[in-house]
Amino acid sequence: MDLQDAKQKRSTPISQEPNKCVARVAIVTGANRGIGKAIAFRLANDGFVVAMVARNGDALAEVQNEITSSGGQTSVHICELSDSEAYAATIEDIFEQYGRLDVLVNNAGMTKDGLMLRMSLDDFDTVMNVNLRSVFAGCKAAARPMMRGRWGRIINITSISGLSGNAGQANYASSKAGVVGLTKTIAKEFGSKGITANAIAPGYIETDMTDSLGEEIRNGVEKMVPLRRYGQSEDVAAAVSYLASEGAGYVTGQVLVVDGGLTC
Ligand SMILES: NC(=O)c1ccc[n+]([C@@H]2O[C@H](COP(=O)([O-])OP(=O)(O)OC[C@H]3O[C@@H](n4cnc5c(N)ncnc54)[C@H](O)[C@@H]3O)[C@@H](O)[C@H]2O)c1
Repeated sequence: MDLQDAKQKRSTPISQEPNKCVARVAIVTGANRGIGKAIAFRLANDGFVVAMVARNGDALAEVQNEITSSGGQTSVHICELSDSEAYAATIEDIFEQYGRLDVLVNNAGMTKDGLMLRMSLDDFDTVMNVNLRSVFAGCKAAARPMMRGRWGRIINITSISGLSGNAGQANYASSKAGVVGLTKTIAKEFGSKGITANAIAPGYIETDMTDSLGEEIRNGVEKMVPLRRYGQSEDVAAAVSYLASEGAGYVTGQVLVVDGGLTC
């Protein structure tokens, strides 16, 4: 399905009177690969119906097949996250489809690295748009259905770059720091409605995003990390699983760092 199809699909109500889904429904963005794919698998395994959002329909369909064949339930939603309004509309569609929304995992993100003196305002805006503006739009769209259910879990994937800064990542670090401020604010605004909001800050995780860093940086990272290894997507997915669980009901406004001890 391409973006045009997705837009047409959005304008057609899926159901006028949706039946309420029995299982809890979780939205995961960027579910076609890397950390998002591991999160989708993990939440499906935990019993959530997982509404997977990504801009790449083919890769997402493959993930759906894999999850379905291991007994999980998913749906596929195509959305370009630089269009925050489209993302909010996608969330509304998912709520309409299932009649409930329990968990939102804002995982998708991008980098456009460069030293600050060479970074254009366009490169700054592009990253802020996808990594922060769309997260704000998504959280806002998800809050109303969660309030209606008086239960919700918002989990935003930030980064240790957003906590400590990182040379060459003025745009990315700013966007991820913004995600932390946004998450803490949501925790305060929506706590009384039964909604928790937490962020997860991964360190170096082995995905396409870190593949490009090269062997030298990789070896350096492995020496610096107390646990002496790159993290795996599943390490982050396990943290999401916890924060989405009933057991994490008294944890809100926190940043859970998953970095092998790098920043401790
Ligand atoms: N890999 C790491 O070491 C690391 C460390 C800290 C934080 N993170 C964060 O974890 C999250 C997942 O990263 P990853 O390592 O799996 O990266 P990845 O590049 O493998 O995956 C990123 C996902 O985001 C999606 N995406 C990017 N821009 C998009 C857009 N405009 N519209 C729709 N989808 C878009 C991609 O399609 C992909 O599915 C990101 O938010 C990233 O910033 C990753």
